[in-house]
Amino acid sequence: MAVTIVVGTQWGDEGKGKITDLLARDMDMVVRYQGGNNAGHTVVIEDKVFKLHLIPSGIFYKNVLCVIGNGVVVDPAVLLEEIETLRSKGYSVDNLKISSQAHIIFPYHRDLDAAQEKVHEAGRIGTTCRGIGPCYVDKFNRRGIRMCDFFNEKVFREKLEWNLKEKSTILNYLYGTKIEYNIEDIINEYFGYFHAVRKMVVEESTTLINDAIAKNMKILMEGAQGTMLDVDHGTYPYVTSSNPVAGGACIGAGFGPQEVDEVLGVVKAYVTRVGGGPFPTEIKGGTGDILREKGGEYGATTGRPRRCGWFDGVVMRHASKINGLTQLAITKLDVLDSFEKISICTAYESAGKTIKDFPTDISRLESCKPVYEEVPGWREDITKITDYSQLPINAKKYIEKLAELAEAKISLVSVGAERGQIIKL
Ligand code: GDP
Ligand code: IMO
Ligand code: MG
Repeated sequence: MAVTIVVGTQWGDEGKGKITDLLARDMDMVVRYQGGNNAGHTVVIEDKVFKLHLIPSGIFYKNVLCVIGNGVVVDPAVLLEEIETLRSKGYSVDNLKISSQAHIIFPYHRDLDAAQEKVHEAGRIGTTCRGIGPCYVDKFNRRGIRMCDFFNEKVFREKLEWNLKEKSTILNYLYGTKIEYNIEDIINEYFGYFHAVRKMVVEESTTLINDAIAKNMKILMEGAQGTMLDVDHGTYPYVTSSNPVAGGACIGAGFGPQEVDEVLGVVKAYVTRVGGGPFPTEIKGGTGDILREKGGEYGATTGRPRRCGWFDGVVMRHASKINGLTQLAITKLDVLDSFEKISICTAYESAGKTIKDFPTDISRLESCKPVYEEVPGWREDITKITDYSQLPINAKKYIEKLAELAEAKISLVSVGAERGQIIKL
């Protein structure tokens, strides 16, 4: 068995980029299996900060093959920009491959995303407006245009023509926008992108991945978003339009579940969420603001301030169950360094009942109040610690409590954004 899946256990931004980069050093392949450029994965190498949206976070190692899998939706303009940024900083990107089955984001996807958000003001999801949802809708509605369609301009044109007709009708008549698309402009623009990345497009990304599995090579699946943003298992409808959970990796990369060796859950030592939707342990103002400032909790993709709150053990248990976590990477523990007291949510209370399983119906969730256990902080700078035994006793007790709630073992503790700020257990 050769596959490790790295998955977010909360509402995204847990530090998956940092953990993926760290593990990638010992991998042969890193694959993104879902999502698109709604993701923003940060990798900090010495004084350089990289924010990756589409390219797997293993790209900094020349010998690691990085694959954008079939389950990803690709905005080629963003991809090209990312490739160029990396090249300008000395990374060749020769180790990048893109699945020909990946779906393509077009301007009408972004326009539909924005129009839907505008119309549904009351129940606004707070999407990243990158066209992710509408692109997945087309995929499932079998209207999507994939990377492979670039290889046949006639087919590409026919599909685009149909889509432009359909989308401008919806946008203009349903949403009242005044958008007109010029097919020739879009074709010229998109074929320009395609020619720049053509050599990276692989017809059979699943063969590439399965051959690597057969050779017992080490493969890491890099999840984007997080369990609570999963379209099936998250706080629906306040979710993204894909399956970030571990099971999504088999579909979005194309391999069998028996190949999975480890499922590593990335767990922020507190919780954040960006966009709308329920968040039981959210702290508005006060401590929430302190967490945001200390943790630099501003979106890596949109720059929006992230909502912040205490660690949620009910969410943790849910993520543990849905993903079958075998290991945990606790991140951003250092952000709690200065707190005298830290709260941990161990259960919810609703209508006089104690709830330990995450309610899937958000109307029930909205009535839930967190039950907190307060623990003492450690009030010490831990950002230079690389050995577990050196951690203050209260910091150890804190993360052991998180592991107990997750019913999984901790393998990594991150104490700063930089690559080297890590404790391996
Ligand atoms: P991702 O989407 O899960 O990859 O996470 P993001 O990159 O969106 O957000 C995580 C943020 O926290 C980034 O700015 C990281 O550089 C930073 N980060 C990651 N791990 C740590 C850590 O242990 N401590 C601190 N202080 N920052 C961290
Ligand atoms: P990473 O991979 C945090 C959120 C959006 C919104 C909802 C739907 O960096 O953890 P979408 O544009 O996907 O249709 O928006 O999902 N969201 C994220 N939140 N981290 C992300 O990715 C996210 N990707 C999407 O804010 O609430
Ligand atoms: Mg992020």
